[in-house]
Amino acid sequence: MERITIHAPAKVNLALEVCGLLPGGFHELDMIMQAVTLYETVTIEKRPAGELAMECRAADGSLAADIPTDSRNLAWRAARLFLDETGIGAGVFLTVTKAVPSQAGMAGGSADAAGVLVGMNLLFDAGLTREQLCRMGEKLGSDVPFCIVGGTARVQGRGERVTPIAPLPHCLLVAVMPHTGSSTPQGFARYDQYGSPFHPDVDACAAALAAQDLAALCKNAGNALQTACATGETQSILDTLRAHGAAAALLTGTGAVTYGIFTDKSAAEAAAEELRRSFAPVFVLKPENRGPFAVG
Ligand code: C5P
Repeated sequence: MERITIHAPAKVNLALEVCGLLPGGFHELDMIMQAVTLYETVTIEKRPAGELAMECRAADGSLAADIPTDSRNLAWRAARLFLDETGIGAGVFLTVTKAVPSQAGMAGGSADAAGVLVGMNLLFDAGLTREQLCRMGEKLGSDVPFCIVGGTARVQGRGERVTPIAPLPHCLLVAVMPHTGSSTPQGFARYDQYGSPFHPDVDACAAALAAQDLAALCKNAGNALQTACATGETQSILDTLRAHGAAAALLTGTGAVTYGIFTDKSAAEAAAEELRRSFAPVFVLKPENRGPFAVG
């Protein structure tokens, strides 16, 4: 095999609670993350040892010249780390096709890194376990371990403790990107300054999933970072999602994407249609029950 193509799912947070501060300025989190049917596409081609290069493309296939393709890019760093840690005497060329908006709270960059680690493990037949890939991933970013595991998981600590749990029952997720993105460090800094009037019950969310009770999950879903990370458009997106019958509407991660959970397909499509008059992109997604997978 000379090349492999991977689809790496984005995520949303069904619940996010901040439990405290960790050494190094990170926050101790208790979250439920859900992979969704929106995919970064990562193609990895074998190259001679010493070569490591990449290109980034937009969803329409055009070259995304504004995205760095060197050590500033998490996919590049994932490939470097994999080659260094495994000692495989090879090089790679990466093509990353972006579907996930940046500064969205949907872990697009982390999905790229997860796709590279999972893909290189398959391409070079390196035989690393998922646990070993996660330990590599946590060196790259807090969301990378979950992006390797995918599906539905309780995610704790900085993001490194990932425990798969019962799947989100069938539903549709309408995810809306406001006109401005959100910076993760700035969102956490604002939380440290202002706190949150709202704290989700993550145990109740996990119990609802265990019981496959979507209504109870929606009642308890929520994000303690929502007030700190809201953009000027967040409230109107929440209002529109709820007006169309969303059973829950919340910010994912540090935003800026705001999404609603729908049980009714026509209600979800009507919400998306109205929101597309003001925002782009607006996605209608489903829960994805896996992490990165090979498509070619
Ligand atoms: O790990 P990652 O590089 O994605 O984190 C980006 C920034 O988000 C960190 O520098 C930190 O400011 C913040 N962060 C945090 N607590 C976490 C995860 C991220 O404070 N658990």
